[in-house]
Parts: sequence; structure tokens; C-alpha cells
Amino acid sequence: MPFIASALCYIISLQAIYLSLRTTLTGSYIPLDHQGYTSTVYHLPNDPTRVCKSFNQAFRNDLYPVEKAVYERFTAHGPPPSILAYYGPHPSLLASLILDYAEQGNLWNYLGERDSLNTPPPNATLLLRWARQATEALAFAHDLDIFNGDIHPSNLFLDGALNLKVGDWAGASIEGSLSRSSYRPRYRLVDAEGRDVPSTEGVTVRTEIFALGSALYFLVTGKEVWGEIEGGEEIRRLFAGGEFPRTDGLLVLGEVVERCWMGGFGSMEEVRQVIGEEEGRMGLRVQDG
Ligand SMILES: *[C@@H]1O[C@H](CO)[C@@H](O)[C@H](O)[C@H]1NC(C)=O
Repeated sequence: MPFIASALCYIISLQAIYLSLRTTLTGSYIPLDHQGYTSTVYHLPNDPTRVCKSFNQAFRNDLYPVEKAVYERFTAHGPPPSILAYYGPHPSLLASLILDYAEQGNLWNYLGERDSLNTPPPNATLLLRWARQATEALAFAHDLDIFNGDIHPSNLFLDGALNLKVGDWAGASIEGSLSRSSYRPRYRLVDAEGRDVPSTEGVTVRTEIFALGSALYFLVTGKEVWGEIEGGEEIRRLFAGGEFPRTDGLLVLGEVVERCWMGGFGSMEEVRQVIGEEEGRMGLRVQDG
């Protein structure tokens, strides 16, 4: 637990404290299924629109410098609003970044909670806007030779007006550097022989687009790819055989998701354009909030 941080900041997440305690107990392994495992997010006093993201001790030397370097490179190139806004390192807290507060949390929790509350899913307009915003941010990063390395709904944040912002760049690969995190099982490209591509070839345009496909599948359906199947081995076998859930019944983006999984896009920019065309075709493009 960052002791000084707790004195200076208001804690917003009890779960994050629990997870940061666990971090110190279990060492440097990074279980990416737990948000808040590598860092703790605090509200800044008297600043309701921004937060500080403090890296837990075990991750201060590897993950923190990566995320800081990514945000600095973004800032130098005029990032689009679909990248979570960055305000520099905290002036006094160790290994802490000041970022915009994503009022509506992340897509993982947002869609999960809606599901349990039995509220209707987001409409086609909103889904296409989110998909466009996600690919806009990722294409911008790719242009700067930055791969996110952990594309997942829990790293896609929503502001108060439900605009999507891509955050969590701590596991990014910069100019071919080794990614310190990497995608979760249902987001990992597997080759026809069943080999895990991010492990053998690193994080690339191809692995990013594959992961995006699974994230868009979740975005549209509110469900994980092969969510009913437990084992990572079985999922890998299905992916190796080119077996994916059907996408022809999806409200939007069915073809885009399938093309992401099948290697049908050459760049993130191309994905962004195709999503933009789908938005245009449906006449649904609305002004961002
Ligand atoms: C879609 O949902 C958004 C957000 O809830 C709402 O503002 C918008 O009016 C809806 N659009 C349509 C076409 O129903």
C-alpha cells in the first residue's frame, strides 16, 4: 500500500486496496484479469475531474516508466479525445500519473452491470461510436509505433457523456520493445498449429487487431468469446481451428469482428475506416457528446 498516497488522496476503490495488498504478497506476476492489481487509482483532493494512478510497489520499475513514456509520446503528437487525457506525473507521489477521471468506469463493468440490472443494451448508434473511438485511439498509437498489448473491455473507459477513451498503456510495446503485460486468453491470436502468437512473435498489428475483434465482440454482445468454455487450452484449440462464435446475428459490426479474427485487415486505420463506413451506411453517425 502506498502509505503517503493514502494520506494525500481520497481512495475511491476498496477493491483496489485489497488487490494492491495482494500484489505485495504474490510478487511480480501480473494477473491481468484483475483491474487494480498493478496500480491503485485515487481521486485528487478538490479535483473531481482527474485522478492519480499510482503504481503498486512491485510495478514501479517496469510498468510505470512504460505508461509514462507512452503518454509523453502521445502528448507530443496531439492525441485524439479517444485517448484518456494525461496531465503529467504527480508532483510528489512516487510512480503516479495524473489522468482524466472516466466517470462511467470501463466497458467491462459498465456492460456487466447493465446486464445484471436487466437494462436494455446500448443501441447501434452508441456501439458504432464506441467502436470508432476505440479504433481511432489505437490507430493513433500504432502510427507512433505504440501497441497497447492488452486490448480488453476493462481498458476501454467511458466519460460522463459516454465517449470511449482507451486507457492503460502500462503493458504497451514502444518501437518493438517487449510488452510487459499482454492480452488475456480470449484476446490472443493463435496460429494454425496452436502456437500462441503474442508469445512467439510479440505484440504486433496482427495481434492487436485480433484482440480488438474479441473486444468488439464483447462490446456488441456483452459476452466473452466462448464465455461458456472454461479452459484456456480448449479456447486455444478452437482458435487454432478457426472456430469462433457466429457473428452474423450481431446488431452491428458482425463482419468487422469476423475480419479482425480472420486476419482480414492490414492496419488499425483500415478497421477504423470500415467501422466509419458502417456508421455512415446506417445513417447513424451522430455528433460526439
Ligand atoms: C441511442 O442511445 C443514446 C444513449 O442512450 C441516445 O442518446 C440516442 O438517442 C439513442 N439513439 C437512437 C437512434 O435510439
